[in-house]
Amino acid sequence: MVLSRSDAEANLDPSMPGIETLRTVTALRARISQWKASGSRVALVPTMGALHKGHLSLVRLARTQADRVVTTLFVNPAQFGPGEDLEAYPRDEARDATLLAAAGCDLLYAPNRAEIYPPGFATTITVTGVTEPLEGALRPGHFAGVATVVAKLLIQASPDVAVFGEKDYQQLQVIRRLTADLDIPVRILPGPIIRDPDGLALSSRNTYLTPVQRLNAPGLNRALREASRRLAAGERIDSVEAVAIAEVLSHGFDAVDYVEVRNADSLDRLGPAKLDRPARLLAVARMGRTRLLDNIAVSPR
Ligand code: PAF
Repeated sequence: MVLSRSDAEANLDPSMPGIETLRTVTALRARISQWKASGSRVALVPTMGALHKGHLSLVRLARTQADRVVTTLFVNPAQFGPGEDLEAYPRDEARDATLLAAAGCDLLYAPNRAEIYPPGFATTITVTGVTEPLEGALRPGHFAGVATVVAKLLIQASPDVAVFGEKDYQQLQVIRRLTADLDIPVRILPGPIIRDPDGLALSSRNTYLTPVQRLNAPGLNRALREASRRLAAGERIDSVEAVAIAEVLSHGFDAVDYVEVRNADSLDRLGPAKLDRPARLLAVARMGRTRLLDNIAVSPR
């Protein structure tokens, strides 16, 4: 659920100081060089805006690792496929800026499209392997768009640490691969999934849910938790996945894109027999046009 304007966390006191906002890479580099010259460690939190408590938890985590925190806000067209929600994606920079200031972020970097993709831009970064299953198979080109923009943001800001949420678990693994392969000198720090009290993982896209869909949406996490118990008890992976899919559908979802147990690093498929090592259970299910993602760590007892 996205924070409402009245949410206490927003602390919308008109006298509250705003946050410095920069829009060009030249200005960003100048500010970060200044900080680094005075010995500050810098953390980066890349986002597409429409911030919720999950993003703000990443900012707070970043704060524990660095003297200065920069959040980026860029709705990256290259990671949306044809027919996806690029135009509808929620945007409210003023609200995001207020939330970031309250969460202790030092700087908002909100470049326009031409700053990231200037005329003549012709480079795409392709990560193989970890990008291929799951989201990669269902959203062709998505991870090339993510890898390209994340590489650009890391090169532009040259942070010491960059924080990415585990909610997009496959994206996190792609970014780890990307930064290792390209020797980008940054530590990638994962942030745990933040959930509403009923278990629904926070997502900017939760705002698309109707009230009835929102009531049913925690069924995805319930099914994953039940699957985790079955895996720990030694049930076969293939039957646990099948039962979880049926359970998600029984909770009012229209379709399940996948519920799969995967190697937590490579995302290689595990099973069909019982789980013999810690792994990740990843799922995507749809309510109308809204895709809800969730994942949890699983292990044998
Ligand atoms: O997770 C997101 O919001 C985006 O994929 C990211 C990492 C900011 C790249 O556009």
